[in-house]
Amino acid sequence: MLTLDTSTLSTFLPDGLAPAHEAALAAQQTLRDGSGRGGDALGWRRMLLAPDRDLMERLVDVSSDIRANADVLVCIGIGGSYLGAQAVLDALNPYFGQRAAPKIVFAGHQMSGRYLDELLASLEGQSVYVNVISKSGTTLEPALAFRALRTWMVETYGPEEARKRIVATTDPKGGALRTLATDEGYTTFEIPPDVGGRFSVLTPVGLIPIGAAGHDIQALFRGAADLCRTYESQPENAAVDYASARYLLDQKGYTTELLAVFEPRLKSIGAWWQQLYGESEGKEHKGLFPVSVQYSTDLHSLGQYVQEGQRNLIETFLMLKDDGGSFQAPAASDNLDGLDYLVGKTFTEINRKAYEGTLGAHVDGGVPAMTLWLDKLNATTLGEAVYFFEHAVGVSGYLLGVNPFDQPGVEAYKQRMFSLLGKPGAN
Ligand code: PA5
Repeated sequence: MLTLDTSTLSTFLPDGLAPAHEAALAAQQTLRDGSGRGGDALGWRRMLLAPDRDLMERLVDVSSDIRANADVLVCIGIGGSYLGAQAVLDALNPYFGQRAAPKIVFAGHQMSGRYLDELLASLEGQSVYVNVISKSGTTLEPALAFRALRTWMVETYGPEEARKRIVATTDPKGGALRTLATDEGYTTFEIPPDVGGRFSVLTPVGLIPIGAAGHDIQALFRGAADLCRTYESQPENAAVDYASARYLLDQKGYTTELLAVFEPRLKSIGAWWQQLYGESEGKEHKGLFPVSVQYSTDLHSLGQYVQEGQRNLIETFLMLKDDGGSFQAPAASDNLDGLDYLVGKTFTEINRKAYEGTLGAHVDGGVPAMTLWLDKLNATTLGEAVYFFEHAVGVSGYLLGVNPFDQPGVEAYKQRMFSLLGKPGAN
């Protein structure tokens, strides 16, 4: 099971996590009994505590079907309708070499026309399926991209075949996508109304793309469900500790949290975490600003700032006990590069020393740091990590005194953009 090491916080929190203990347990209780703000948006816990086995069977079936018939699956979505799938896929896919088809590509996660041009050109001659994902069914980026993709699908395959190749994941009742999917007769999956976008990776939103890529969605789900049940019986847990540490440091005036990984395939977990924490906590002028970094790469760009810049940073390392790698520093016929002292060491060992060195240097430089350890990287441990961060952000949001499950602030730019674009009714 994942563990959190907060021992490296001792210089910054001399009394440990104790000052937040009682409040954190109360915040967790609020999360568990659904009595807090946003208590009607806890479907991400409900579905883990009482899994819908029929739904899982349907998800396995549709994923297998896409897998058997598609060269490419285009997943259209943005924010919570995209980041979770991308995070898990990037974590589980090999760095190089083609897994068995289909290739999963994303669209509707930005508004580059050139991207769509090139995407459509790249699809020529391939067997293409589309999974359009939008909880509201009205988000501009995916709606526009889907308009382009479905036109291409109908032109390429004809309306009947195109219909069979499009799967829509959306609200059970409302929204333009639901209406369109019903009218067109697409296969549809529901995003439960009580699951917010950033908590939806373990719903059809994430599970269809992840399953279509050939990963074990049942193990992913089970990893999360098992940790959820464990935390039900263990109120003192790592997620509560993480929330407590962040809260105490926030109260001391730290403003920014770095989530640092040393394994590149974890980088997209950082992007998913940024949305989860940024949208859940960043309101009422509160919350730590979440920034994900990939070391050692970013130590060569941001490292200077982290070491010696403003002392407003805290750092959480997300580490693997076993990274699965065995590559060793090679011998050479000479020692002109001076690297002989590393010969025989694995990159895993070298990377681990880079982590230890970074942790020590940053702590000494005034950056409170802690480490979340995953045993290794597979569907089960990723499921655990997903639930850990979701549970912790619920506790953390309640500790801060905000509603962790809404995101009123994301509408402001949209209103201005729609007005500028001349949308009827927008002003
Ligand atoms: O958390 C949120 O609400 C947003 O980031 C959404 O996930 C994002 O805007 C996509 O929304 P939708 O799935 O409704 O298209």
